[in-house]
Amino acid sequence: MKTDRYSRRDFIIGTAAGAAGTMLTTHIPLFAFKKSLQASKPALTGGDPVRTRDWMKWPVWDRDAEDPMIEVLRSGNWWSGGGTRCQEFEQKYGRLIGARRVVTTASGTTALIAAMHVLGVDAGDEVIVSPYTFIATYNVIFNQKALPVFADTNQETFTMNPHSIQERVNERTSAILPVHILGLPADMNRINAIAKKHGLVVIEDACQAWLAEYGDKMCGTLGDLGCFSFQQFKHIPSGEGGAVVGDDDRLMDLVHAYHNCGRPHGETMAGLSGYPVRGSNKRMTEFQAVILLSQMKRARSDADRRLENALYLDSKLKEIPGIIPYQLADGATRSAYHLYPFRYKKEFFDELPRERFLAALRAEGIPCSGGYGQQYFDGLVEEAIKSRGYRRLFSKQRLNRYREELHHLPDNDQLTREAVWFYQHMLLAEKKDMDDIIHAVQKVYENRKQLL
Ligand SMILES: Cc1ncc(COP(=O)(O)O)c(C=O)c1O
Repeated sequence: MKTDRYSRRDFIIGTAAGAAGTMLTTHIPLFAFKKSLQASKPALTGGDPVRTRDWMKWPVWDRDAEDPMIEVLRSGNWWSGGGTRCQEFEQKYGRLIGARRVVTTASGTTALIAAMHVLGVDAGDEVIVSPYTFIATYNVIFNQKALPVFADTNQETFTMNPHSIQERVNERTSAILPVHILGLPADMNRINAIAKKHGLVVIEDACQAWLAEYGDKMCGTLGDLGCFSFQQFKHIPSGEGGAVVGDDDRLMDLVHAYHNCGRPHGETMAGLSGYPVRGSNKRMTEFQAVILLSQMKRARSDADRRLENALYLDSKLKEIPGIIPYQLADGATRSAYHLYPFRYKKEFFDELPRERFLAALRAEGIPCSGGYGQQYFDGLVEEAIKSRGYRRLFSKQRLNRYREELHHLPDNDQLTREAVWFYQHMLLAEKKDMDDIIHAVQKVYENRKQLL
């Protein structure tokens, strides 16, 4: 029985066929395409698209993943307290990313909440965070009744600008929450130095950064605690899921206790009984863990494939005027490429608006997105700071100044207008598929006047 539209087996067969195809196909250099691309009509205005073939679907899995699922079902041990799969995954994931301890959680959001709680982020605190992130990063800070204070973004690296972090530290600041967004490592040496100088804790949001590297360490292992997501679209997916990672036994025992209703855990809580600390239920199920154990097996080879294809895209896309690929932050050694990002400078495209550029690419068969907007103006920030709780916790002057500061994120604002993303599963395809992307961008460039 076939289980999905595009199983891992199909993927492997497809990949092998693709590899053979690649060997037979001569790669045609960009310049050779230019003439024909100038003559060809953009798909958006009725021409033939560069690509009509589908991209692979995500997630992928193989039949080997099915038996362990059935075993868990038949064992009747479906929760982490009764089974062994969550623990097994914790040990293996720790080894994979170089963390001494791992606690699995229900999601990345709950991992971040647990990490902030045990590191003492409290009501009335300020947490310096990147505005350029998935909304969960804002939400978890509001969940603690703390204020997310946005540092500006470095447009080249898509991550927090350390100078901007420094400017925002005040007596209420308790933590820095760097986000390795899109898989791109944040500037952790500088961030850790600022934290040390001001006595702040560092919680890494590595929810998009499995196997990303900074220096010789993996993202998630550079701050006080690191948090991961294993949600459906992530590189190691289980529908929903997350983890907190760290090296400090006291902290990790507290994370375990917090995620398990406040029950004491580990040597640092030895002798305690009942409910000595506050807690919550943020536990992963054994079903999630059993999927993760099989998904994790290909994490390394997938990461290598994404890297190879991303470097190829970098080398070609940067030749096209107005296309500025991301840069790694100082000290960063490897992105996870959850997204492949670049900046689109419309002035090189005769002022063709980014939305039109994106629509043109999609029409050529290349899925893409403009990424995050100015989410701090969407309503949730205002809704939070208008609430009774926030008005009790922060002075009127502070909240007014905070509101005003949201208008002073010039680099982030520009990035939200210029970013373009391709998706991680596209980077798992063959080099000839990367050529489709490159030729589509080049075709849009050559035909920019027709698209206006
Ligand atoms: C940067 C970032 N932080 C946090 C999260 C939250 O993770 P989850 O969806 O597993 O709760 C996500 C998920 O997409 C994310 O991308």
